[in-house]
Amino acid sequence: MKKSYTTRYGTQYNGNSLDFLASLDDDSIDLVMTSPPFALLRKKEYGNEDQPEYIEWLTQFAKLVYAKLKPTGSFVLDLGGAYKKGLPVRSLYNFRVPIAFCDEIGFHLAEDFYWFNPSKLPSPIEWVNKRKIRVKDAVNNIWWFSKTPFPKADVTKVLAPYSGRMKKLLENPEKYYKPTERPSGHNIGSNFKDNGGAIPPNLLQIPNSESNSVYLANCKKVGLKSHPARFPPKLPEFFIKYLTDENDLVIDIFSGSNTTGLVAEQLKRNWISIDLDNSYTAMSSFRFLPKSLSQKDLLNVYYSILAGNEIKILDFLSNGREVPNLTKEFVFSQKNSLEQLGKLKKSDLKKLQVLETAISVFS
Ligand SMILES: C[S@@+](CC[C@H](N)C(=O)[O-])C[C@H]1O[C@@H](n2cnc3c(N)ncnc32)[C@H](O)[C@@H]1O
Repeated sequence: MKKSYTTRYGTQYNGNSLDFLASLDDDSIDLVMTSPPFALLRKKEYGNEDQPEYIEWLTQFAKLVYAKLKPTGSFVLDLGGAYKKGLPVRSLYNFRVPIAFCDEIGFHLAEDFYWFNPSKLPSPIEWVNKRKIRVKDAVNNIWWFSKTPFPKADVTKVLAPYSGRMKKLLENPEKYYKPTERPSGHNIGSNFKDNGGAIPPNLLQIPNSESNSVYLANCKKVGLKSHPARFPPKLPEFFIKYLTDENDLVIDIFSGSNTTGLVAEQLKRNWISIDLDNSYTAMSSFRFLPKSLSQKDLLNVYYSILAGNEIKILDFLSNGREVPNLTKEFVFSQKNSLEQLGKLKKSDLKKLQVLETAISVFS
């Protein structure tokens, strides 16, 4: 397990989160907020387990999460749905996950949430776009598991803005509301109190259309392809605010571009993020570096992390941006080993291009 970088509140590790979780003390985590590689049929570039083995694979992580969560802790898991191979019928894997976690591990399903992403593109192409027999799948399951029936949770920290109608009602209840007898017997008087916002529903409408983040700008500046399956920051923000307090510990065990870590940092929560892929962990440091940083400095950080160094972001930004043992040799050796491969895949050609840029800005 290698540390890629540290910030004021957190640490990004590169490695297998199974090993990392096993090394933690029991009852030590407040929130695990994560989105695993999904069991999709087409392999994603960040590696998916096949559908039949998926539940078993994910259960190994969940068992460790259960042991390491505090009794007040929560495990929030974002899972997208999937179709069965070659058929316009859905896999049930995303429903089998909560059944397995609750029946086999002992988790409670504190609440099921649904993330509606209005900017999701129609897919799968065959059923939705070509044959037009299925609609766009734009909702992910977000399973909120808890170790006990009463995890730490405070809805007043995530109140939604009142609707225009409700605001009017609060200003002048007599004018806008006449108490009447309801068929349900659940009668509402005209004593409305301003609670600072409305109780949010379990349908979270959050577009995933990030286009001007520092992460994307910095990836673009150095020519690196950003992580393909990022959270919109509002998603971890909702659960981190709702389920934790300042200085609590939030962990993302499949951290990708480390959206969770960034939001936890902004909300003054301690955080730990782990990803198996070193280039994702190295690139995710860009979330904590200003947009004004030069291409050379960004490449310096990126390749230093790939070469095995740990970057202390605060020191780096305050001490003249010195990176330990920078690693021109590393960049050259990466380039040589790629060139020795002969015929290169598209992704390798991209890597080569970035290595060449690095060589030219470092020399
Ligand atoms: C869906 S992505 C997470 C994206 C993330 N939520 C974000 O906002 O960028 C899943 C990630 O899990 C990582 N991963 C897969 N197996 C892993 C393992 N055993 N340990 C740690 N990370 C793993 C993949 O490299 C991938 O980046």
